[in-house]
Amino acid sequence: EAPRDLEIGTAVWGQRDLLDYDRKNPTEFQRILAAEFSSITPENDMKWAEIHPEPDVYDFSGADAVVAFAKANNMEVRGHTLLWHSQNPEWVTQAAATWTCDEARAVLEDHIRTVVGRYAGEIYEWDVANEIFQDDWDAGGVRLRTEANPFLAACADDPVALIGDAFRWAHEADPQAVLFLNDYNAEGINTKTNAYYALAQELLADGVPLGGMGSQGHLSLQYGFDDTIQENFERFAALGLKVAVTEADVRMPLGEDGEPTAEQIALQAERYDAMLEACLNVAACTSFTVWGFDDERSWVPFVFPEGYATIMTGDFEKKPAYDALLETLTNA
Ligand code: G3I
Repeated sequence: EAPRDLEIGTAVWGQRDLLDYDRKNPTEFQRILAAEFSSITPENDMKWAEIHPEPDVYDFSGADAVVAFAKANNMEVRGHTLLWHSQNPEWVTQAAATWTCDEARAVLEDHIRTVVGRYAGEIYEWDVANEIFQDDWDAGGVRLRTEANPFLAACADDPVALIGDAFRWAHEADPQAVLFLNDYNAEGINTKTNAYYALAQELLADGVPLGGMGSQGHLSLQYGFDDTIQENFERFAALGLKVAVTEADVRMPLGEDGEPTAEQIALQAERYDAMLEACLNVAACTSFTVWGFDDERSWVPFVFPEGYATIMTGDFEKKPAYDALLETLTNA
């Protein structure tokens, strides 16, 4: 149970884990999901490749399953995501090779109005623009992804205008939803969040209905920890924006036995807790979402030679990270 109006969420892949939902006979996963969390982010179901697989075909099955599960269990839904360089369908990637900016805009507008419109009133926050800045170690440094993102590429002359319109279309389709920018390596104060801070100011000055800045919170114990998260949240809140931890997990390199050390387990709990504390300490922080809650379903091992990233083992055994979060929420 969270203090004030803070939502405690998790990502769930509806297509994989919710299609078989039977209220009277939930799976163990579904039972824990409903018992422990107040919000769900569709891990993949609302991404372009899944929800809009062909130019004239929308497939809402996974997204509908998430929204229906949330409704049945009095949970909220965080929408994810509308403008991203990754997980776009083949047809977008192919068409994008010859898009003019006007053509790209028309495709994006239709998609946003269709998807956001379908769930209008049922989604409290939308990640409208996801990972639109590259990192400082990418070629060219921190700047908008005007190559990798097919929509920004087609409108590279004025990508900010396109981003602003994406928020406007989403706002028209669902005026109640709080509309977010969202990115990784965007927890503390760094070159990337400085770029977001400047972009947020620019969008707000243009009257764009930007409502929030999401920090994904994908941490690894391999790297140092930036303790300026709260300070970073405060500067976005001072712009009048909401902030949120949207995809928290804390992965780590594992030993040859595939197990973490006791030290790593304790450190993982600390890092999760630090992200939650930063959120709790800033009134504008609306939600704290973990990116999946059990290691069996975590995306991490598919991408990194790391693991043990979530708050429960594959058998739903609660880790010290779970206990730390619960204790902080109980005392808040
Ligand atoms: O489950 C299948 C497995 O059976 C198969 O053998 C394997 C072969 O590739 O694929 C497995 O599924 C993969 C799945 O991740 C595993 O979790 C999918 O191919 C892969 O497309 C999927 O990736 C998703 C990823 O976004 C795509 O970029 C992850 O589910 C999802 O957690 C991840 O989420 C992103 C956020 O949207 C944005 N921020 C970063 C975050 C992590 O990458």
